[in-house]
Amino acid sequence: MWKPGNMLYPLPAVLVSTADRDGRPNILTVAWAGTVCSVPPMVSISVRPERYSYHCIEETGEFVINLTTAGMARAVDYCGVRSGRDVDKFAEMKLTPCPSQKVKAPSIAESPVSLECRVTQALPLGSHTMFIAEVAAVSADEAYLDETGRFRLDRADLLAYSHGVYYRLGEAIGKFGYSVEKKPRPGRRAPGGGKTDGGKK
Ligand SMILES: Cc1cc2nc3c(=O)[nH]c(=O)nc-3n(C[C@H](O)[C@H](O)[C@H](O)COP(=O)(O)O)c2cc1C
Repeated sequence: MWKPGNMLYPLPAVLVSTADRDGRPNILTVAWAGTVCSVPPMVSISVRPERYSYHCIEETGEFVINLTTAGMARAVDYCGVRSGRDVDKFAEMKLTPCPSQKVKAPSIAESPVSLECRVTQALPLGSHTMFIAEVAAVSADEAYLDETGRFRLDRADLLAYSHGVYYRLGEAIGKFGYSVEKKPRPGRRAPGGGKTDGGKK
């Protein structure tokens, strides 16, 4: 038995980009992030008030969640151990800030998907304040669109974080709903992919 603690893994480790009131951009790494509602689309991030980014989020009510890839792992770690008070993390990690569609905080061009967020509630919980936010816009890297126009996030080599260690996602072992899909009878053609909604709940 252990004393109570957080052992909810694996998690995505995301790069949260912000801008202060003067428009100066910053990035912090966040693992305490989650999806909290489908309609309207809402997410949460939990941030310690000591973080430089905390005040940018509090002041502007905006941030961008940028998904991360294995190739971005070093930047993910760096943005989680250095503060924007002391360094320009975009410059140090050679990440490219690009204008967002709906919020002033920049998105990160190297990220496969960026969720532009507007804070609706700030819940002080203890060590962390949970910012609950509506997703105002989503941008995705065209490089992951296949010939048919489908977005292939499976090709993005996404990064996961588990108990202090970064991992790349491994082999796909099933898709949404596969446990109840009808198996094709011998001699029949397999059904065309089954009914899925791409993971939306
Ligand atoms: C993998 C990882 C996950 C992290 N998750 C969080 C988190 O969920 N919330 C938080 O407040 N800080 C988290 N941190 C720490 C901040 O990213 C770190 O303190 C950062 O330097 C803050 O930057 P800032 O001062 O420029 O805002 C995490 C760090 C790492 C390396």
